[in-house]
Amino acid sequence: MHALVIIAVYIGIALLPTTAQNAASDAFTPKFDYCPPGTSLIRSTGATSQTLGPDEERYISTRKRDVLPAAWSSYLQNVGNRAKALDLELPEYVSRVLSMPGLNPSLGIAISGGGWKAATFGAASLNALDSRNQTATKLGTGGLLQAASYMTGLSGSSWLLMSLVQANFPTFEELIFGTASNATQSKENLFPGWLGQFDLLQPGNTNQSLDFVQSLLTDVKGKFDVGFPVTLIDVWGRTLSRHFVNGTTPENFFDTNITHGAGVTLSSLASLPIFQDHGIPFPIVVSDSISTAPNTSALFNLTGAVVPLTNPILEFNIFETGSYDPMLSAFTPTKFLGSPNDSVCVTGFDQVGYIQGSSGGLFSIFNTSAETLAASPVGGLLTLLNATFTQPGIRLDAAALPNPFFGHAKDTFADSGEKILRLIDGAENGEGTPYQPLLVKARGVDTIIAIDVQGDNALEFTEGLSVIASQERASILSSVYSFPSVPTSVETWRSENLAKHPTFFGCNSTSRDVPLLIYIANGAPPLGQVAVTNVSTTLTIFPPEQARAIFDQSFDIATQGIPVLNMFGYIEKDPEWPICLACAVVDRMRLKSGAQRSGICASCLDRYCWS
Ligand SMILES: *[C@@H]1O[C@H](CO)[C@@H](O)[C@H](O)[C@H]1NC(C)=O
Ligand SMILES: *[C@@H]1O[C@H](CO)[C@@H](O)[C@H](O)[C@H]1NC(C)=O
Ligand SMILES: *[C@@H]1O[C@H](CO)[C@@H](O)[C@H](O)[C@H]1NC(C)=O
Ligand SMILES: *[C@@H]1O[C@H](CO)[C@@H](O)[C@H](O)[C@H]1NC(C)=O
Ligand SMILES: *[C@@H]1O[C@H](CO)[C@@H](O)[C@H](O)[C@H]1NC(C)=O
Ligand SMILES: *[C@@H]1O[C@H](CO)[C@@H](O)[C@H](O)[C@H]1NC(C)=O
Ligand SMILES: *[C@@H]1O[C@H](CO)[C@@H](O)[C@H](O)[C@H]1NC(C)=O
Ligand SMILES: *[C@@H]1O[C@H](CO)[C@@H](O)[C@H](O)[C@H]1NC(C)=O
Ligand SMILES: *[C@@H]1O[C@H](CO)[C@@H](O)[C@H](O)[C@H]1NC(C)=O
Ligand SMILES: *[C@@H]1O[C@H](CO)[C@@H](O)[C@H](O)[C@H]1NC(C)=O
Ligand SMILES: *[C@@H]1O[C@H](CO)[C@@H](O)[C@H](O)[C@H]1NC(C)=O
Ligand SMILES: *[C@@H]1O[C@H](CO)[C@@H](O)[C@H](O)[C@H]1NC(C)=O
Repeated sequence: MHALVIIAVYIGIALLPTTAQNAASDAFTPKFDYCPPGTSLIRSTGATSQTLGPDEERYISTRKRDVLPAAWSSYLQNVGNRAKALDLELPEYVSRVLSMPGLNPSLGIAISGGGWKAATFGAASLNALDSRNQTATKLGTGGLLQAASYMTGLSGSSWLLMSLVQANFPTFEELIFGTASNATQSKENLFPGWLGQFDLLQPGNTNQSLDFVQSLLTDVKGKFDVGFPVTLIDVWGRTLSRHFVNGTTPENFFDTNITHGAGVTLSSLASLPIFQDHGIPFPIVVSDSISTAPNTSALFNLTGAVVPLTNPILEFNIFETGSYDPMLSAFTPTKFLGSPNDSVCVTGFDQVGYIQGSSGGLFSIFNTSAETLAASPVGGLLTLLNATFTQPGIRLDAAALPNPFFGHAKDTFADSGEKILRLIDGAENGEGTPYQPLLVKARGVDTIIAIDVQGDNALEFTEGLSVIASQERASILSSVYSFPSVPTSVETWRSENLAKHPTFFGCNSTSRDVPLLIYIANGAPPLGQVAVTNVSTTLTIFPPEQARAIFDQSFDIATQGIPVLNMFGYIEKDPEWPICLACAVVDRMRLKSGAQRSGICASCLDRYCWS
């Protein structure tokens, strides 16, 4: 991330001609029109007994009816085959819960932030749960991804999830590395991979990089010209688009005549075949709102959190944007983000890259003072942006969203009176893993698989901090959320190695309201390997060889379990891990069906549960 320091030096020659316009700029510019008759821009969820949006409700109920029963059966087959191969017998209730649609668990998968690292580690972990991967299927973990109801991301994992969905759910191998080598397919129809060999901020030599930054600024000019604020998040979203949204290949990377993913909106993904088929877990990404009146007593104190836990977390999904947090309890249609009122509707604001940037842009961490910010890696870009577009009063380090909730929830929503809602990276309140959307009771999620890749310690490994933050937040907002009990001291996480291997939380809760948490973290390298997954969150370049090494190692971490001593005296992966995972996945529904834990599941839960 040294690029923009260099760019600052060149500022004299890098000012944007004010007439510049390009294909991406046109596609990035939101459009105004009269709202369709009957449009309502606010849906109140109700503060305590909350309701889901009708489109989400329909997606989930259709998926549960038409897709999930077969997905759970095929997962059962995978884990059953694995058990047989190990000469183990699954308790009868495991088969019953997985094969009877009325008893199927409601599974959510949450992936933490952590930049390129989290995107890649998250992808490998999902690959380990993906029935399309034969290794995962043979192992008995494959199929859970297909059986999940929800998947949530923030920051780096929002890049992953949005990229995955907009590419119509290719395999993770194809998503990251592309399929360009497959000569039987034409190139236009391929997502060419994440192109991490191009730096997010300085993708070529100095001249190319200067031109590149110019083109990012040009990309956002149309949006500015029609009256919207443009901030670092817009510009950042435009560079993210060149990696995580269709339309950019190594050959056309610097071509300014094409849109580079501009115009691909979150709401438009509803028409993709995979979504029409209800073929993926419902995707949600989150961002933190910065309020004008922060509650400083609610700042999470184990990380450098800058957003209090009591600020609303904003979620973006394909249909709606808003928050179930009781301070706000309201949503607006995602396709009309940016609208001034319910007679004039804006479309084209909800660009995928922009939403990835709003969820995943860590700029405010540099903004401890104007001087520190100016000297930071984004200082140069900020100066250029500020010199190109005159916008007094706009906070340039945050996304600036025309406030859909202006005047709403005056007594509880601190930003009710603000025309612009400011949003920053979803990890900045300390809840680095997006649990919140999965805790919404109306969603009925009873089991959460969390993939935590936050760089909590000096070695950039995870130590459970985001789980502690989430528990703290859920306890502040206990009128609507329940979270399993987890140790609140980092010392306990360390001494009990809770992030160094998978751990289950909430096993002994007797309430179905409290989800069971299956926690898998980037806490240590896998057995016998030299660590490669613990790189910095702020890397801006991530060449395919590095992505490959991390992808492979992450798969091992996600499938290792708690290593065991085998009969030859060697420590090895826990062969029973896939079975133990299944035991945890069914456990809440076992409780509901009145069965007692038994057999292999009793010993698995003894081994993997924290209590
Ligand atoms: C499945 O995933 C493993 C681990 O990443 C990988 O080695 C293998 O090539 C994948 N198989 C397919 C068919 O994608
Ligand atoms: C190439 O694409 C075709 C058509 O989608 C597919 O059948 C084939 O398996 C792919 N080959 C490889 C090596 O990925
Ligand atoms: C992106 O490309 C994939 C093919 O790689 C295609 O299936 C998908 O529909 C495209 N998505 C959009 C939003 O155009
Ligand atoms: C960069 O641009 C300058 C001025 O146009 C030119 O003199 C120089 O040769 C260029 N450098 C590269 C590496 O293209
Ligand atoms: C971009 O478009 C302009 C004008 O149509 C053309 O002159 C130029 O060659 C194009 N550039 C590329 C890289 O295609
Ligand atoms: C401020 O945060 C504390 C928890 O740290 C919480 O108890 C209190 O209700 C919050 N106040 C408001 C106004 O949100
Ligand atoms: C951090 O916050 C927790 C929960 O609010 C509190 O119990 C603890 O005392 C605080 N620690 C410090 C050092 O302020
Ligand atoms: C709605 O917004 C448009 C554009 O800002 C404005 O011209 C119009 O007067 C507004 N209508 C109402 C009813 O406020
Ligand atoms: C932006 O430019 C104005 C002058 O046009 C200056 O007063 C202000 O300090 C600049 N802000 C930043 C963040 O550079
Ligand atoms: C930095 O943060 C302060 C508030 O602490 C804000 O007023 C200022 O606008 C921010 N700077 C930029 C460039 O966003
Ligand atoms: C990753 O962990 C290894 C120890 O397993 C350590 O030597 C290395 O410095 C760590 N990398 C980073 C970037 O902290
Ligand atoms: C909680 O469940 C575990 C795993 O089944 C069991 O070993 C432990 O005794 C239970 N603890 C309590 C307090 O019930």
